[in-house]
Amino acid sequence: MTKINVGLLGLGTVGKGVATIVARQSPQLASAGLKITRAAVRTITPERQAHFPDIKLTTDAFQIVNDPEIQIIVEAIGGIDLPYALIQQALRNGKHVITANKDLIATHGQALTALAASQHVALNYEAAVMGSIPILRTLNTSFAGDTITSLAGIANGTSNFILSQMARGRSYQGALADAQQKGFAEADPTNDVEGLDASYKLLILCRLAFGLDATLASIHRQGITTLTAADFAAAKHFGCTIKPLIRAIRRGNQLSLTVAPALVPNTNPLSHVDDEFNAIELTSTNTKSLVLIGPGAGSLPTANAVVADLQAVAHDIRGHQTPTIAAQVLLTAEALELKT
Ligand code: HSE
Repeated sequence: MTKINVGLLGLGTVGKGVATIVARQSPQLASAGLKITRAAVRTITPERQAHFPDIKLTTDAFQIVNDPEIQIIVEAIGGIDLPYALIQQALRNGKHVITANKDLIATHGQALTALAASQHVALNYEAAVMGSIPILRTLNTSFAGDTITSLAGIANGTSNFILSQMARGRSYQGALADAQQKGFAEADPTNDVEGLDASYKLLILCRLAFGLDATLASIHRQGITTLTAADFAAAKHFGCTIKPLIRAIRRGNQLSLTVAPALVPNTNPLSHVDDEFNAIELTSTNTKSLVLIGPGAGSLPTANAVVADLQAVAHDIRGHQTPTIAAQVLLTAEALELKT
């Protein structure tokens, strides 16, 4: 099988996770025939090259998006302006693009989607919203005959980690330092703790859930930086937990949007979603209520969502000539003898 060459932009928390999972070549992934041939990094060090001996490193990301041998670009640089220029160039060059960049998709997602469509290539960004939780795939595929009326959840792993730790008595600063050390926080954690990161994710969710394009300015946003030990003591006294919630309620063509810490009664499942875990509850006419929970930040959970996008694009490139995952699992599954 000819390989599908992938160019990776960024070898930070998410990029490294993607390279690690692809190198492991699980049986399902092997059928996609993906190979990361090149990666763009800020600085090339011997240690880094030794860690990924099969990947050719460069400091010039434009070399990768202009490389005719590469069919798929994975963008894991972060920020807005540079990845925007790189992804536009990649799409114009006819390459498929996968990104984990919510700031970029919330800001320029529509322009990039239109460009990808005009070039007949894919632009996938499952990892941009709620890390490991396949929420975009769910919204795209599971509500065709349904109407979502509201959504509520936890969309920022760093804030949830900090509030979970503070509820156990840690200081805000100590918990934030831990979240940074574990690779949950953004390069500038202000976006996490002031609710901007969750707001970007909420904007993307609203496009898919309600078909409505909201703006950052329309979100009532409050960060978690002013919470104190006294707030957690009061929450406990009233049988509640403080959680960093996103909420969207639809009334006709109007959306009411909030990103703010809120008191959640301990009887509500969201109150038990701790640390870097994210969660979302979708309320809809037919399904009534659907809840998804999973790690929302961190290297491998987020990279896993990128790799799922990679596999989907690879199967499209091959014109579905390879069996679907389910069919392949059926074909290769070993017979299991049940002993009674
Ligand atoms: N900083 C983000 C978070 C990473 O804490 O949720 C995943 O988007």
